[in-house]
Amino acid sequence: MSTSTNASSKSSTSSSPAKKQCTRSIVGPTPAPSSSMLIDDMPPMGIYETLYKFKDVFGEHMGTKNTHPWSQGFPLTTPLEKFGGPELPSSVDVTWNDRFYPKAWGHPELRTAVAGYYNDNYDCEIDSENVMIFAGGRPGIYTVLNFLKEQVEVRIGNVEWPAYLDILKQTNTNYKVVPFTKENNFHPPNGDYYDRTGLNAATHILPVISNPSNPTGHTRAGEELKELMEMAEQNKNGILLDEAYEWFHEGSVSGMEYVKDLENSNVFITGACTKGLQCPGIRIGWVVASKKNIETLSNYSSFGMGGVSHPSQLYAVKLLEPERVKKAKRAVQDHYGWQRERYGAAFKNLGITVYTGDGGFYHWLELPEGMTAKELNERLFARGAAILCAFDCDMARPHDKSEYVTPYERFFRFSFGPLLPETFEGDVKLFSEVYNQYKKDAGVA
Ligand SMILES: Cc1ncc(COP(=O)(O)O)c(C=O)c1O
Repeated sequence: MSTSTNASSKSSTSSSPAKKQCTRSIVGPTPAPSSSMLIDDMPPMGIYETLYKFKDVFGEHMGTKNTHPWSQGFPLTTPLEKFGGPELPSSVDVTWNDRFYPKAWGHPELRTAVAGYYNDNYDCEIDSENVMIFAGGRPGIYTVLNFLKEQVEVRIGNVEWPAYLDILKQTNTNYKVVPFTKENNFHPPNGDYYDRTGLNAATHILPVISNPSNPTGHTRAGEELKELMEMAEQNKNGILLDEAYEWFHEGSVSGMEYVKDLENSNVFITGACTKGLQCPGIRIGWVVASKKNIETLSNYSSFGMGGVSHPSQLYAVKLLEPERVKKAKRAVQDHYGWQRERYGAAFKNLGITVYTGDGGFYHWLELPEGMTAKELNERLFARGAAILCAFDCDMARPHDKSEYVTPYERFFRFSFGPLLPETFEGDVKLFSEVYNQYKKDAGVA
C-alpha cells in the first residue's frame, strides 16, 4: 500500500560539516568565503514559499490592502459576530510571579484548563499531568517526531499539511506514504495506516493525521474515529492525531472521546489556540499523552525549550474558560460551515471539481484537464491573490522539489479561514475572472 519510503535513519545526518578554510595566505588565489555550518536543505515551508513568490510578482506582502489571502491557514482573529461568537480577551495581568522561568511542562493553571476542557467536552478523565504546553502546534508535533525510537515507522497520507514533510525530513524520521487518490476519495480506510505487509516484528507504526484534514477537509468522526483510536491503542501501534481544526466540524471532533487507556498507549493528541480559539499570534499549543510520554517531552523542555511564555499561557487560560468555549465553538462551527457551503457551491458553478470533506476551513479542488494550479496561481498573484498548489501538500515528493512532477498538478487548496463574510461576492468575482480567462487562454471548453 505504501508508495515511498524515507531511507534516512535517526542516527544519520543529511550533510557533512563544512571544512575549515585557511584565510591567512597572502599568496595564491583568494580564499572562498567560508560556507555555512548550517545544513543546506532548509527551504521555507511551502505556504511561506508561496508568499515570497507572491511578493515578487505583486510587489506587496500578502495581507496588505487589496490582497486576498486564499493561500493562508489562519482564522479570523475578530469575534464571529454573525453567529454570536464571544469577544476575545484584550489583556492579561502580569505579576512578579510571571517573570520567573516557566515550568518546563507548562503553567499549572493552563494544564488544568486543557485537561478540564477535554474532560468536559469528550467524556474522558485525563489529569493535568497528561498535558504538556508548547509554543504553538508545530513545536509539539516537531518534538514528538524528533524523539521517536528508531524502530518507529511513521505513516503519513499522500496529501497532508506541508509542514509535516519538512518536520519529517529535518527530524530524520522514517516514514511511509499512504496513497490518497480520487478512487479512495482522499480518505483511505483506517486500516491502510496500520498495514503491516512487509514489516518485521520489531517495527512499530505511528500514523500522523490531521483531523479534520488540512488541506482536504476530510474528517474521521463517530464510528470511524472510534475504530481509528482502537487501532491506535493496539500493541505496536500509536498515533499522532493533530486536532488543530477540531472545532471546524459539526459537533467538534477529538480522538480523546474514544481513548480507552491513555496511560498504556502511544496516543499523542495535539491541539492549539491557533485555529478554533482564533489566536495564532498567542503561540500556545499542547500535546495530550500518557504521563510517561509527557515526562519525556518535558525533560526535553528543561534543556531545549525552557518552557513557554507565562503571559501567553495566562491568555490561553482565559480563552478556555468553559462558558466562553461553548459560545466560541458554536460560532466557529456555524460561521465556517456556512462559508464552506457557499464557497463550495461557487466553485461547482465554475466547473471546478470539489473533493472537500465536511471539516476544516479549506476547499480541496481540481481544475479541468489542460490547466494547472501553478499557472492559475501565477495569474492570481498579478491580481493580488494566491492559492496553495497541491504540489506543496504532496508528502511523496522529494524535499528539494527538483525534477518531480506531482500527480496532483491540477489540485489546489483554497482557504476561506481568514475571509470575512462581506468579502464573499468580491472574492468569487475575482477568482472567476482569473479562472475564466485562464480557461479561455488554455482552450478548455
Ligand atoms: C494541520 C495543522 N496542524 C497544526 C497547525 C498549528 O500550527 P501552529 O499552532 O504552530 O501555528 C496548523 C496551522 O497551520 C495546521 O494546519
